[in-house]
Amino acid sequence: MSSVTVRVPAKVNVQLSVGPLREDGYHDLVNVFHAVSIFDDVVARTSDSITVAVTGEWADQVPVDDTNLAIQAARALAKHADVGYGADLVIHKSIPVAGGMAGGSADAAAALMACNELWGLGLPIDALMRIAADLGSDVPFLLMGGTALGTGRGELLTELPTTGTFHWTFATADGGLSTPSVYAECDRLRAAALTNAPSTGGSSSGVPSPGGASGGASGGVPSAGGGSTGGPGSSVGGVFSAEPDPGLLAALRAGDPHALGRHLSNDLQPAALSLRPGLAATLEAGRRLGALGALVSGSGPTCAFLAEDAAHGARLAQALPGRAPIRSTITAHGPTPGTTVL
Ligand code: C5P
Repeated sequence: MSSVTVRVPAKVNVQLSVGPLREDGYHDLVNVFHAVSIFDDVVARTSDSITVAVTGEWADQVPVDDTNLAIQAARALAKHADVGYGADLVIHKSIPVAGGMAGGSADAAAALMACNELWGLGLPIDALMRIAADLGSDVPFLLMGGTALGTGRGELLTELPTTGTFHWTFATADGGLSTPSVYAECDRLRAAALTNAPSTGGSSSGVPSPGGASGGASGGVPSAGGGSTGGPGSSVGGVFSAEPDPGLLAALRAGDPHALGRHLSNDLQPAALSLRPGLAATLEAGRRLGALGALVSGSGPTCAFLAEDAAHGARLAQALPGRAPIRSTITAHGPTPGTTVL
C-alpha cells in the first residue's frame, strides 16, 4: 500500500475531576471523554524517512519538527515493531490547536493507525492502545472514540453506554492554552484556597477543593473525593476518591441532553478562567442564549455548549460571535467513532 488516509475525532470532557498532583507530575483523573464530529484527516505515504506537513485553518500553529506528536507516534510504532520504514504524513487540520480538544493527541492516534496500515504491520488495537498511552494521556481514547470513562491519568478506559446523539457548539479562542500550565494553575489555586480558607475546603469561591469536582461548570458534582496531604503550597500526594457522577452517567445512558447539561463539570475550568478571564463572558453568553450546559473543554480555551438539537446548535453558533470575544464557532455532534481508516 502506498497511501493511507485516516480520520480522527476531537474530544470534549463531560466530567473532568482532577486529583492532587502525583509524584510523576500527572494528576489522577475521573475523566468522562466524549468524541465529537470535528475531524483531522491524516494521509500517510510511503517514504524513506518520517516527515509531517500540516494544512487547514490551524496549520500555522502546528510544529512540524520532532515535537510534533504524529512524528513521535510514527517513530514509536516503528520502534515497537522493530522496522525501519518511513512515512510522509500530511495532517488536514480542523481540530483547534492547543484548544482543550486533544488535537495533538488526535494526530498521534491517527499516525499510529495510518502507519500500522501503511507498513502492513497488522498490530491489533490493544497493541496500538499501549503505544498510545506512552505518547499522551488522551491518545488511547482518540483511538477508541465513543464515550468512555478514563481513570489513572486518563489512559485506563472503560466504554460508557449512551443513547442517541448529543449536539454541541464550540467557541474557539485566539491563542491556545498549554495543558501543563492549566494543571499547574489548578494546583496553585487549590494551594491558595487551603492557605486562605483551611476549614472550608475553599470551594465557595469557585476554587475547587483538592481532589474535588466542583469546577463551577454548571454546578457541583456529588461524589468528589480526595484531599491533599501536603501543606499549603504543596499538593503532591493525597487521596483521590472521585467517582463518575451517577447523574451524568444516567443522562448519557438515557440520551437526555437537558440532564447532561445540568451535570457537566470540569475541575480545570477555574484554572482556565484564571489564566484567560475573558472565557467567563463566552460561557455566560452561551448560557444566556439557552445552551443546556456550558463549560470549558478540557484545559481550554475552547468553550463547549450543549444544544437541544442540531437546529439549536446552529442558532448558538450563529449568535455567539456577536456576543463574546471568540475566534470562531463550530457545530458538532457526539458520540462519534474513534480513529478510522477511510
Ligand atoms: O499526557 P499528556 O502528554 O497529554 O499530558 C500533558 C501534560 O498535562 C502533562 O505533562 C501534565 O502536566 C498534564 N497532565 C496532568 N495529569 C494528567 C494528564 C495531563 O497533570 N492526568
